[in-house]
Amino acid sequence: MDITLEEFRLLRDFIYERIGVYFEDKKMYFLKTRISNRVAETNSLNAKEYYRFLKFQNSDDELKKLINLVTTNETYFFRDFPQMTSFAEEILPTLVEEKRQKNDRTIRIWSAACSTGDEPYTIAIILKEHLKNLEGWRIEIIATDINTEVLTQCDRGTYIPRAVKDVPADILKKYFSKDGDKFVISDEIKKMVRLKRLNLINSQEVKQIRNIDVLFCRNVLIYFDDKAKKQVVSDFFDILNKGGFVLLGVGESLGRISASFKLARLKKTLVYRK
Ligand SMILES: C[S@@+](CC[C@H](N)C(=O)[O-])C[C@H]1O[C@@H](n2cnc3c(N)ncnc32)[C@H](O)[C@@H]1O
Repeated sequence: MDITLEEFRLLRDFIYERIGVYFEDKKMYFLKTRISNRVAETNSLNAKEYYRFLKFQNSDDELKKLINLVTTNETYFFRDFPQMTSFAEEILPTLVEEKRQKNDRTIRIWSAACSTGDEPYTIAIILKEHLKNLEGWRIEIIATDINTEVLTQCDRGTYIPRAVKDVPADILKKYFSKDGDKFVISDEIKKMVRLKRLNLINSQEVKQIRNIDVLFCRNVLIYFDDKAKKQVVSDFFDILNKGGFVLLGVGESLGRISASFKLARLKKTLVYRK
């Protein structure tokens, strides 16, 4: 299938409007290879007809299929190990102490672009390992993504060896079982995580997630342009508890996006606080 620059731009703008992910012109080939099957499967003659199908048939089902194809889902357990260490050794103790002082016995953590679950399950493992003596506390981990395919994989909880390469050996033994050459996350960890499909650039959906203490938003803002980033981050500010933490991916920053957060320098990572 061939695609003209005009067709590419129509589809690019359509995707941007729906999910905030922006493909620059140099990504034309990437988009073309990702959608060529969809063009054929929807019996569209060419990319323009496929665009019309998406836009005017208003097919949520086809939109989901397209989103599943064009999002980048790279992830693995204990990604950015130093940051996860800071989460375990600095953020959690601070949070628990502050909550105790307020007589508040809840902790709500949100993995805002969870992909196949490696990130929220890592968070759950860390909570299990580091939060002892928290009887009577309500601890919630919400994991969301826009891609339905990755959410299904997250629910399955089965991983290839590459996904667990950074998991310490004792943790691997404790929280995973083997199924052939695959690693299966234990039910005890799985049941700590609540999955939901959510589009980060849909303010209404984001604002349904409330009172968050720690927000992991790693390696997703990079796919958005500044306008989309600003909107998402402003919504994050609204749904965080006062003092809530925001953890971004390596090399990501809120610098040019928002002046509302305070930057704190921890031993092994930078973190933003409301
Ligand atoms: C590279 S993965 C990051 C996974 C994980 N946070 C990590 O750092 O390992 C990016 C994820 O963002 C999701 N994503 C992209 N646009 C989104 C949107 N508008 N709303 C929610 N999730 C989105 C993709 O489906 C993908 O799973």
